[in-house]
Amino acid sequence: MSDHDLTPAQSRQALWDQRHAAQEPIESSEPDPTLVDEIGSLRPGRALDLGAGDGRNATWLARQGWQVTAVDFSGVAIERGRARAEAGGLEVDWQLADLLEWTPEARAYDLVTLFFIHLPREERRAVYARAANAVAIGGTLLVVAHDRTNLANGVGGPQDPDVLVSPAEIAAELTGYRVERAETMRRRAPDGRGPIDAIVRAVRVASVHV
Ligand SMILES: C[S@@+](CC[C@H](N)C(=O)[O-])C[C@H]1O[C@@H](n2cnc3c(N)ncnc32)[C@H](O)[C@@H]1O
Repeated sequence: MSDHDLTPAQSRQALWDQRHAAQEPIESSEPDPTLVDEIGSLRPGRALDLGAGDGRNATWLARQGWQVTAVDFSGVAIERGRARAEAGGLEVDWQLADLLEWTPEARAYDLVTLFFIHLPREERRAVYARAANAVAIGGTLLVVAHDRTNLANGVGGPQDPDVLVSPAEIAAELTGYRVERAETMRRRAPDGRGPIDAIVRAVRVASVHV
C-alpha cells in the first residue's frame, strides 16, 4: 500500500507511528508533574488514559495501585508502553484504538485522563464528550493540553490554533461535573519561558446521557 492509499485516519496514525519511532520517549520518561500533583492524593480505582503514548502516565498510575487501561492508535507507542510496564512488573491493559471511533464504557472509571491530545475542534469535542461520559459518578476527569495562549506567549507545541484549547472552553463543555480547577499554567523551564498548558480537573456529580 502506498501513502496515497491511506485514509486520513490511517495517515494520522502512520504519522504518529513515525513520530514515536523517531523520538523515545515521546514526552518524558517521568509522569507529567500535573498528573502527580492533581491525582497523587486520590484513592486508586479504575483509570483510563486516552492517547496514552508510550505510557509515562499510565505506568505511573499503575505503580500507584490504579487498575489502568491505556489507549493509543500508535502501535509503536503501545509496544513501548507494554515493554515499559513489563520492565517495571506493572499490569496495564493496552488498547490499540482510534479515539475518533472508540467509545469507552460509560460511567465506568474513577479517573479518566487526557494529556496533550490535540485534535481539530469538532473531533476534540466528540472525544472529550466520550471521555467525560466514561467517568463514574464521583470520579475525576483530568485534561491537560497546550493552551491557546501558548501560540503567542509560550513555546513549542502545535501551531494550529484550531487544535489548541482554553480551560474555560473545556469546562463549559462539561455537563454534570463540578469543575475543581480550570486554569492555565506555565510549565517550569530554566529560562522561565516554558510552554503554557490548559488544565481542567473536574468531578462527575450527575449522570447525563450523551
Ligand atoms: C503528544 S502525545 C501525548 C502522549 C501522552 N498522553 C503523554 O502525555 O505522554 C499524543 C498521543 O496521542 C495519540 N493520538 C493522537 N490522535 C489519536 C487518536 N485519534 N486516537 C488514538 N490516539 C491518538 C498519539 O499516538 C500520541 O501517542
